[in-house]
Amino acid sequence: MKSHVEHLMDLKWGDLDRSIFSDPQIFELELERIFARCWLLLGHESMLPKPNDFFTTYMGRDPVIVTRKADGSIGCYLNMCRHRGNRVCRADAGNARAFSCPFHGWTFGNDGRLTNVPGYKEIYLEKLDLDAHGLVPVAKIDSYKGLLFATFDQNAPPLLEFLGDMAWYLDMMLDRREGGVEFLPGIHKWLVHTNWKFPVDNFIGDSYHGPVSHKSAWVSGFEGMPRRKSGYGYEGFQVNPGGGHGFGVRWAENREQVFEMSLPEFLDYEKSRLDEAIHRLGDLRGMHLSPMHGSIFPNVSLLWQGGTIRVWHPKGPKLTEAWGWCFVDKNAPDEYKREKALHMVQRHGTSGTWEADDVDNWVQCHSSSEGYVARRYPQNLEMGLGDEIEDPRAIHPDIRGRLGKFQSEINQRGFYQHWAELMDDTRVPAVPDMSRRACQQEGS
Ligand code: FES
Ligand SMILES: [Fe+2]
Repeated sequence: MKSHVEHLMDLKWGDLDRSIFSDPQIFELELERIFARCWLLLGHESMLPKPNDFFTTYMGRDPVIVTRKADGSIGCYLNMCRHRGNRVCRADAGNARAFSCPFHGWTFGNDGRLTNVPGYKEIYLEKLDLDAHGLVPVAKIDSYKGLLFATFDQNAPPLLEFLGDMAWYLDMMLDRREGGVEFLPGIHKWLVHTNWKFPVDNFIGDSYHGPVSHKSAWVSGFEGMPRRKSGYGYEGFQVNPGGGHGFGVRWAENREQVFEMSLPEFLDYEKSRLDEAIHRLGDLRGMHLSPMHGSIFPNVSLLWQGGTIRVWHPKGPKLTEAWGWCFVDKNAPDEYKREKALHMVQRHGTSGTWEADDVDNWVQCHSSSEGYVARRYPQNLEMGLGDEIEDPRAIHPDIRGRLGKFQSEINQRGFYQHWAELMDDTRVPAVPDMSRRACQQEGS
């Protein structure tokens, strides 16, 4: 099916057709052309510290098991028994050398091999091809600074190429200190009645909503205020590194301005790590740019100050399962880690003050995409259209990518444009028909 997305995203006007949030056919096509092709975040290597550790997650709508095998390497397999399709692993995480299907007992090693089939001799007469019925592996698995990604597309570019300049900028969050970051134990999981693209859009570039949507957190005094001014006067940029990725940064002229942007409770730690960050990353990434919010295409989002990283698992056009971790510098003091986790839970946890504001917006906007008349009127994404920073390198010679003002929808347009290009890519699906009949025809 051709997606006709050229009619759905109009870059001349910044119009976006609302049906992309509610049309079941578009959602099905996303599973094929976005989620079965892109590199997707599984978690962090720190979630698998020992041999035989595992955790379960999703890639698109497909459940997967991520395992550290006995030899220390990491594998990722469909959490689906090759007999009837039962999930072979029901636990969120643990340590196991094998997974035994609770339906009829087929058993798989944590390297995916089918190792035991009840009645293999008496019932199957040893004819069942064990090698051909192992757990389905992903096509590629790789990590960047501890973040674990996988893809089902054998033809996907290497992870570093997929991330492009986003990787260079991600270092600002992942590589500020020796040892990088770790995910603190525990995952917040919750269901949101919205399409997965709404939260991605929100994190990739919507600095515009903060002073309105989250005003109550500031006015109530619940939220500690940075000393730097709030409202629309932020000095900073929306950075568009390409590939559908994007994030917002604030600009600090000097060290004092970095500290002015820190939340009061983290100021001492910010002061203690600044020299190391500048030493590791240089003055642009270590000092001038303070990452605020961002999204990695297609469905990962981050808040730097909030210390949260998210995956928005698509459950259908109208339902998204949010998973949120708290991430911290591995070498940070324990007290800071505890404080950061508390901060993350209070603001950005399942019922966090900020989260509740955001979720309500996404649910309401999504419900508009379901109304027949409402769908005749597109979303407006024209903020900053034709008003990009003309010469980003004049700001700093090391800057990469395109830049918009801090309040600009340049990143949302970049995200939807990339989405549209992938949706119109009519190559053979990354995961073809794997029935034995189809495979035989392929080979003949
Ligand atoms: S469904 Fe797994 S053994 Fe039958
Ligand atoms: Fe928000």
